[in-house]
Amino acid sequence: VMEFNESFNKAEFLAQYWQQKPLLIRQMLPNFTDPISPEELAALAMEPGTESRLVEGVDPEHWQMSDGPFSESKFTSLPEDGWTLLVQAVDQWVDEVQGLMQMFDFVPSWRIDDVMVSFAAHGAGVGPHFDYYDVFLIQGLGQRTWKLGKKCGSADSTENQAGLSILSQFDEVEEITLNPGDVLYIPPQYSHWGVSQGRSLCYSVGCRAPSVAEILEGYSDSFIDTSMPEDRFVDPVTTLPAVRGEIALGNVEASFNKLMELIDSKRNYLLWFGRSATSPKYPNLISAPDQDYQASLLLEEIEDGCTLVANPSSRFAFSPLPCGESTALFVDGEAILLPNELLWYAQALCDQRLLDKSIPQLLGNADALEHTLRLLNQGSLVTY
Ligand code: SIN
Ligand code: CO
Repeated sequence: VMEFNESFNKAEFLAQYWQQKPLLIRQMLPNFTDPISPEELAALAMEPGTESRLVEGVDPEHWQMSDGPFSESKFTSLPEDGWTLLVQAVDQWVDEVQGLMQMFDFVPSWRIDDVMVSFAAHGAGVGPHFDYYDVFLIQGLGQRTWKLGKKCGSADSTENQAGLSILSQFDEVEEITLNPGDVLYIPPQYSHWGVSQGRSLCYSVGCRAPSVAEILEGYSDSFIDTSMPEDRFVDPVTTLPAVRGEIALGNVEASFNKLMELIDSKRNYLLWFGRSATSPKYPNLISAPDQDYQASLLLEEIEDGCTLVANPSSRFAFSPLPCGESTALFVDGEAILLPNELLWYAQALCDQRLLDKSIPQLLGNADALEHTLRLLNQGSLVTY
């Protein structure tokens, strides 16, 4: 189990740094041991189900980037220096890497996206750039030097070098060399550039922050899914138009108001947001069990001492709905409305990602048992 340096103050971090400014936390994870070796990372990058990239070359102008999966011979033919292997969402495949996400429990769980792991040979890095989301860079094996620059935005010019978006101009403000167990927090849009000193591993715990464009697209799609063809524009005008071709405000006001009525509902927004925030990154990794669970089988297994745990690929969140009406439990992109008596159920699943201590409560509640069967049968929960 990973341990925090006691002097790290979570509340202070949230108040003063989170989303605001970079922070170096020396030995945030003392006695850090790598949860994955460079060889195991390379083995993951050979698997067809993972997402990996290889950046070759030291000088950005002569970079080459290729997408995995890679063959073993690709790795054996790489030079000693000047290449980086990046593997996305290693948390999906290695439990101990998923454990790293739990270290950041002061950030809402649904804000954390994945843990990308990069192995860099000496002198390598992916160049000066900025990301649109928060990232915690955990130093594993070796050392990496991070050059930090100013806060950037879409107005800063970038060049596409072999598929990577590289800042045309990078003004270094500070340089920091990380040792194993050190953590560097970088808020959205702050430019950074990591260069490996010898061979090194870095774990990037990355957050998610949908753009307004993505939110608009997703939120409006949720209305499109349920709208009826007869719900459409109607023309309220009964007077003769003075000039043909004019669209007067009076022509469109009713339609505008109808649209606003649909959108302007905090309940609708929360429901959509929760479904979107929990939609799984790799839905293929969530599959129904070979045999459907019936209540009797579940009760038998519970009797035998099994607990129910979240599928590592499943996402859980919950939200009390406005007016105290009920609680929405979001699981893998779906909303389940629960009466307030089942708040404990939503909390146990979202906070602990398992049901063990709450099993007696579960056994005493037919609704909770039914929801549990459904979650088991869709693969979001598994018995353990
Ligand atoms: C890396 O791990 O090399 C890149 C991580 C980042 O810059 O966000
Ligand atoms: Co970055």
